[in-house]
Amino acid sequence: TGSSHYENLLISTPHSGVELITLNRPKALNALNSALFVELNEALKKADEDANVGAIVITGSDRAFAAGADIKEMKDKEYSDVYKNKFLENWTLISTIRKPIIAAVSGYALGGGCELALMCDIILASPTAIFGQPEINLGVIPGGGGTQRLARIVGKSRAMELTLTGRNFSAVEAERWGVVSRIVEPVEGKQKVVDEAVEMGKLIASKGQISVQAGKEAVNAAYESTLTEGLKVERRLFHGLFATKDQKEGMTAFAEKRQPNFTHQ
Ligand code: CAA
Repeated sequence: TGSSHYENLLISTPHSGVELITLNRPKALNALNSALFVELNEALKKADEDANVGAIVITGSDRAFAAGADIKEMKDKEYSDVYKNKFLENWTLISTIRKPIIAAVSGYALGGGCELALMCDIILASPTAIFGQPEINLGVIPGGGGTQRLARIVGKSRAMELTLTGRNFSAVEAERWGVVSRIVEPVEGKQKVVDEAVEMGKLIASKGQISVQAGKEAVNAAYESTLTEGLKVERRLFHGLFATKDQKEGMTAFAEKRQPNFTHQ
């Protein structure tokens, strides 16, 4: 477990290969102000560049993953500020991170908090997780990708309902709709979603980093291209992996009936 200079984040290494980033503005339910996002981007970039990190987990507290963009910081902004200064544009850095990011969500994941979870690669939820895009209640709409990502995941009718009514949705709905990959039940009253996300990170970190990155790139292509283009991306990446030592090692280990020792080369 390491320490850091961040004011709004806690960084730790619960298992070698797994970096855990905990959003830490408890008094504001982890509202995502600009200082927090600058730190989050920096932490993500560092983790992405760190050869020892194979997977990243982002979490909040039991009460809130994040209750949205910071409304108090936003309320007096003018159009000229938000337009000129590209307000929220730095939120897109997360989609340039090549290593897998798992969101472990308990409690509120509202507005920008829901959008942050949706920008991660995998979402695991506690039964207490409450998702929603309540921006309509503030006289705006989601600005961190919520309308687009929800529409792709849950379909038009549900994305419209959620965006236009601002109603929350539960962990059960999120699982049924495919927003989260699964709900992690608590054990003896203690939420286990972070432990489970770290376990998943550990498993991913045990694979070859190059093939993991290629897998992430290929799945993401499904959201950004036609089927024909996506299949081409997949085939190119698949072919390219035959130029790696990890492919030789993985397949040789299988033939020799032993565990592979991936060197990320
Ligand atoms: N921004 C700033 N502060 C926030 C916040 C937010 N998004 N969410 C909560 N807080 C603050 C509260 O103001 C309160 O601070 P004080 O103690 O100083 O008053 C503290 O966190 C605790 O919150 P509550 O007292 O409200 O706690 P609660 O348990 O009664 O309610 C809640 C919890 C239902 C999540 C409620 O806080 C809430 O509705 N929050 C706002 C949710 C929201 O609208 N999010 C969308 C933001 S807009 C956005 O995200 C734009 C985008 O697309 C990027």
